[in-house]
Amino acid sequence: MRLVVGRGDAGFFALDGICPHAGAVLADGMLDGDLLICPLHAFTFETASGRCVDDEGCSLRRYDVRQSDDALEVRLGLKNAG
Ligand code: FES
Repeated sequence: MRLVVGRGDAGFFALDGICPHAGAVLADGMLDGDLLICPLHAFTFETASGRCVDDEGCSLRRYDVRQSDDALEVRLGLKNAG
């Protein structure tokens, strides 16, 4: 599992880290406010939802993020795995 974790204008976010379009590493992309832009073909994702504005079929899974005084926790939601 690979994630991209960042901080946009609306706060921290965690999304799938591989672009479903052609496999680019989204951590190498660019953050523009609350939009994450893929480094390979520039598909754009809303950091709050993971929705791909260029192709809804390429939307990313979003993970809940919680910030405490000294940590950032990402809830992976693997409760039913294994
Ligand atoms: S690999 Fe991300 S837009 Fe093509």
